[in-house]
Amino acid sequence: MNRVRIGIVGAGFIGNMHARILAEIPRADVVAIYDRQSDRAQALARRVEAEAVPSLTTLLERVDAVYITAPNRTHPDIALAALDRGCHVFCEKPMAVSLDAARAMLEASEHSDRVFQVGHNRRFAPVYQKVKELINTDHLRPHSAHIKMNRGELLDPPWVGRPDVTGGFLYETTIHMLDMVRWLFGEVTSVMVVGSSHEYGEVDDFSMLLTFASGMHATLASSADASWFFPFERIEVFAHHATIETQEMVCVTYTEGLDPRVTTFSFHQLSREDQWGYRREDDAFIRSILDGAPVAVSARDGYKAVELVEACYRSLRTGERIWFDA
Ligand SMILES: NC(=O)c1ccc[n+]([C@@H]2O[C@H](COP(=O)([O-])OP(=O)(O)OC[C@H]3O[C@@H](n4cnc5c(N)ncnc54)[C@H](O)[C@@H]3O)[C@@H](O)[C@H]2O)c1
Repeated sequence: MNRVRIGIVGAGFIGNMHARILAEIPRADVVAIYDRQSDRAQALARRVEAEAVPSLTTLLERVDAVYITAPNRTHPDIALAALDRGCHVFCEKPMAVSLDAARAMLEASEHSDRVFQVGHNRRFAPVYQKVKELINTDHLRPHSAHIKMNRGELLDPPWVGRPDVTGGFLYETTIHMLDMVRWLFGEVTSVMVVGSSHEYGEVDDFSMLLTFASGMHATLASSADASWFFPFERIEVFAHHATIETQEMVCVTYTEGLDPRVTTFSFHQLSREDQWGYRREDDAFIRSILDGAPVAVSARDGYKAVELVEACYRSLRTGERIWFDA
């Protein structure tokens, strides 16, 4: 195989984003679009010169790989059907909204020779790749971090304020940073979480304390109705007389030593597709399928992110600190 025929399931915001990027990747052909709302499938199909198809089954018959870009709770059924049909799978985050469903997907992907990649796009954002590079190349050995990931609202798209669809705010939004801390700092050993409810019919404001196998610790604050004040997403990493600070997917500031030297890496001129890592993650998926490149964000990574979210909700409910097995 030297080209990949792709089907998109869910023609909303992120389905459009991936389809647009894939249309520019030489070895990828977007051939089929399915959406429960057929007008959306037709509109996207026109945009990328693909065909709008009437069902998931029809789509799976025509493609080598599937992008799952429908709302969160639909992901497991679509992924399992795609793997069963022998398709490669790109599954948007969260992989699932329960540990049982995530485990079923992990097992199915491990029993298959197909590529399974999860859409934790932040790992591909140049800002976060720079943070990882600074930590690794300067052997910083960070001792703590302070992280925030806020939203202005849970109104757009309308289902993001419905925990029966999202699995909860942590699944919809904060999971990005829970995956990010594993990627940057290694395995989490415990979480302790408090939260409160304000605007929406669920807990929508969280304060978390995390510990890591490396000995590091971190705080993570995440609010669903904080406003879109810039930067709504930020990581501050503290090491021996060194600080790394991010501002959304736009820039990284690195300060070291006792004198006030500051280095700033800015990615403000990149497009949204590049800044947010979407183009690189789509490239990586195609390279894994056609060239056998290692899967960049595996089903196991997707499962571990779900495991972290579940532990956070359990800590919130019980008031206890939740420990993970070593
Ligand atoms: N990685 C990221 O940065 C990122 C950004 C946005 C969204 N997402 C994730 O992508 C998914 C979609 O989010 P969105 O913002 O594009 O939502 P959206 O509402 O804009 O689009 C979802 C589309 O899926 C369709 N749909 C619903 N159920 C379906 C089904 N069973 N089969 C086929 N189509 C169905 C809807 O009609 C809609 O057109 C969510 O899981 C979300 O968490 C990820």
